[in-house]
Amino acid sequence: MGQLTLSRRLGFLEAGRDVDTILKELEHELDYRGVVQNMPWIDKVLRKNPIYLRFKTPTSFFAANSRRLATERLQDEKHSGVDMLDGFLEAKKKHPEIVDDATLFGYISTNFLAGSDTTAVTLRTILWYVIRTPGVLDRLRKELDENITSYPPDYATATGLKYLDAIIREALRIHPIGSLVFERVVPPTGHITTQSGTHLPAGTQIAQTPWTLNWDSSIWGPEPRKFKPERWLQYENESDDTYAKRLTMLKNYDFSFSHGPRACLGKHIAWMEIVEVVPTLFGLLDVSSLLHISWRWHGSVIADEWSDSPVSFGDSVIFQIFHDQVHSSTRHQRVSEIKNYL
Ligand code: HEM
Repeated sequence: MGQLTLSRRLGFLEAGRDVDTILKELEHELDYRGVVQNMPWIDKVLRKNPIYLRFKTPTSFFAANSRRLATERLQDEKHSGVDMLDGFLEAKKKHPEIVDDATLFGYISTNFLAGSDTTAVTLRTILWYVIRTPGVLDRLRKELDENITSYPPDYATATGLKYLDAIIREALRIHPIGSLVFERVVPPTGHITTQSGTHLPAGTQIAQTPWTLNWDSSIWGPEPRKFKPERWLQYENESDDTYAKRLTMLKNYDFSFSHGPRACLGKHIAWMEIVEVVPTLFGLLDVSSLLHISWRWHGSVIADEWSDSPVSFGDSVIFQIFHDQVHSSTRHQRVSEIKNYL
């Protein structure tokens, strides 16, 4: 996210731990939002409390941090190439009535808030299920060995790998990151009639949570709580036409990135990251040590999970295995390749 947004790395991989307390603050922020989204009155007593507002410092950690990082990037005379800040600055120039400085810094912090833990949680979910579900790792490695000659893989090749695709979709389905409801308001021009016939007039607030939809056996078939990448693939006796229709239906019901105009804006970036990291991780590294780490689930705005290992943050598990193994043995002794990745 640092590279894409501000042309700079934030240093997590190099350090193998939290940097500038960003992860710690992120966890606190998401925990807070998890509670107040369910019980907004608590926000009125705490952060929106007029007495608190009178005495609090004007900027939050994320606003201040984004301002600092953006200022450093703008002062960097060596900056070349294009990053998202360039796009935000362009938008500010074109639409000054919409994009003032605060909005611009808001875009930057939104990228860090919406684009980091989300992808990290999905990567951890993939790790968790791939190494614990019998047969999955072997089948994935077979697909990787047959198709990938160097890591990180060429994007077109990686996106064409059917089993990898099925694993990512299944992980997003079984563990969607949005743990709370996605709210919408019925627009003034329209009304909605639900499948059961209930009429919802304009202005009605409605909400959906992927955790119910993504686990509904009437959509996903038997054992929706089981990790089965095969449900995204063509069954043995299934015709091409039936499979194409079923796949479209599954994609329509999959709420992992939400749908419509307020759906995830970073979906393609997230997909690009995941589709590159996952094969590299499983194709090059020995991940068996992860079997011994016990993780516990932890919910906030993001359906998160933490490691009980000495690594203090869940995200660091991934940093750790990259870090450790770059300096030790790897599955194929192709250790130098992973250095391109860091
Ligand atoms: C696997 C990773 C990700 C998942 C599962 C995910 C999921 C979601 C979901 C479900 C929403 C919509 C919530 C709603 O409908 O109310 C959302 C919104 C958003 N996401 Fe993501 N996201 C991911 C990664 C990213 C990344 C990498 C970025 C940025 C580069 C990003 C930026 C955003 C933004 C800006 C919004 C708000 C869109 C708006 O309100 O108009 N996301 N994401």
